[in-house]
Amino acid sequence: MTREQIERAAAFIRGRTEYQPRVGVILGSGLADFASSLEEPDVIPFDQVPHWTVPTVAGHPGRIVVGRAGSVPVMALQGRSHLYEGHHPSALGLPVWTMAALGVTTLIVTNAAGGLNPQLRPGDLMLIRDHLNLPGMAGQNPLAGLQIEQLGPLFVELGEAYDLELRRLAMSVANAAGLRLMQGVYAMVAGPSYETPAEIHFLRSIGADAVGMSTAPEVIVACQMGMRVLGISCITNVPQATLEEEARVSHEEVLSSAAAALPRFAKIVLGVLERLP
Ligand code: HPA
Repeated sequence: MTREQIERAAAFIRGRTEYQPRVGVILGSGLADFASSLEEPDVIPFDQVPHWTVPTVAGHPGRIVVGRAGSVPVMALQGRSHLYEGHHPSALGLPVWTMAALGVTTLIVTNAAGGLNPQLRPGDLMLIRDHLNLPGMAGQNPLAGLQIEQLGPLFVELGEAYDLELRRLAMSVANAAGLRLMQGVYAMVAGPSYETPAEIHFLRSIGADAVGMSTAPEVIVACQMGMRVLGISCITNVPQATLEEEARVSHEEVLSSAAAALPRFAKIVLGVLERLP
């Protein structure tokens, strides 16, 4: 990834919308329809944006929707690319670097995830308090291989990657609306296969509350660019460390559970956008 590629992508988007987005939203599996709550939208397909990769999996339409949530200009991504689609992790960071070049200072990043903490039920929303980036710890970091300081600092501090003030704000919005909002640690795995019972046991034992196949690379790039990050997982299934039938999961089930949570998700995110500091 180079500065020129990012600038080219950003320049293309600037040419396609008058909005100057300040907040970015990445919509994970089953959550793309949130973008229909943005007013007076401009829609830009990912495949027109120079250097952007195009998602290949169901539930990821691959469109940018730029519009207003109240008075806030928002750039929402309907879908994302994943490591398991064969991309270098820096390619997963490109949309976030592009947002930064466009002036986005707050990123709301979302995903579908399996619930590992026994308190989590399908349909729950979970604020991400911290992450375990398992591919990242094994070398698949979006900043690995970048020329030093080419885009921003290389040794990025992640002590509070998920902004405490934004988490408090989301919690207060949920409480005021009487919506259940959990909080926990998200573990990223590479996928695309789901976890074995032994892997579920392992992830629980290292402190993961939820598991999914995205998000960590985008959050690292957002932190590199000095953005404030709010992460929300939609718990779509609860994998068990046993071989029981009810623990089985499918992508279709992930999409339908996320869609069922969408109205509550939208209420919380719109409430946060309305009250952003
Ligand atoms: N595992 C990994 N990723 C997921 C899951 C899961 O159980 N559910 C949704 N995304």
